[in-house]
Amino acid sequence: MKTPQNEVLYESIDAIEEEEVKSEVIRYMEENPGLVDLLTRDLSDSVAHGIVVSKLATMVAKNLNASPEYAYRMSIAGFLHDIGKLMISDFLYGRESGTLRIEEVKYIRMHSKLGFEILKKNNYDDIITESVLHHHENYDGSGYPDNLKGLNIPFGARILRVCDVFSALISDRPYRGAYSCEEAMQLLISEVKNFDMRCFLALQRAVNSPDFAYVKDLVNEQNKNFLRTKRLRSELNLDLW
Ligand SMILES: [Fe+2]
Ligand SMILES: [Fe+2]
Repeated sequence: MKTPQNEVLYESIDAIEEEEVKSEVIRYMEENPGLVDLLTRDLSDSVAHGIVVSKLATMVAKNLNASPEYAYRMSIAGFLHDIGKLMISDFLYGRESGTLRIEEVKYIRMHSKLGFEILKKNNYDDIITESVLHHHENYDGSGYPDNLKGLNIPFGARILRVCDVFSALISDRPYRGAYSCEEAMQLLISEVKNFDMRCFLALQRAVNSPDFAYVKDLVNEQNKNFLRTKRLRSELNLDLW
């Protein structure tokens, strides 16, 4: 339910264009009140980031001539791909700063598996759950959780991978400012071994298309809000991901 505390969370969800995705997300949150608390605390990263990845993944899927049904699944998978981070946020937020580095990495790496399990339990279909499970697999086999390589990585996960990294690069982070889209593209090129070339090229086309203006405005808005929420974030010790 919308409260003054989680108002910004609901505003972020309002930004989702597809009505069906929006109502699905709201329904899921209403049924899981504990999740709303966690989302509220983690909104400036997970929710805003989820919206951008959702938009980009939908654009990339369409660009690769995927069916409308597939593109719709990508919009859901994109929004929820990091949902597993919420399950480990208590552990991470509660830590003493500067400690538990190795455990942090280990726990953070569990998020794709945890997200998979949450979505599986909630009857999301295989395309969505498999995409979430493998969204950190690299094309050259150096990713996690299963070191899958090349075309063994589910198509949806290959789409999410490149959109996820691009979204992170163009967003402000506690430890660095946002890269411009041009800089982010250059960084993707230097790491292109991690990505499916078809998905990378589709992202490049999507970013150069007029539809990208919506995502750009969204990210600019988020980056502006970042300064506003930074103080709150550091109070809550959220500067981790
Ligand atoms: Fe992730
Ligand atoms: Fe992500």
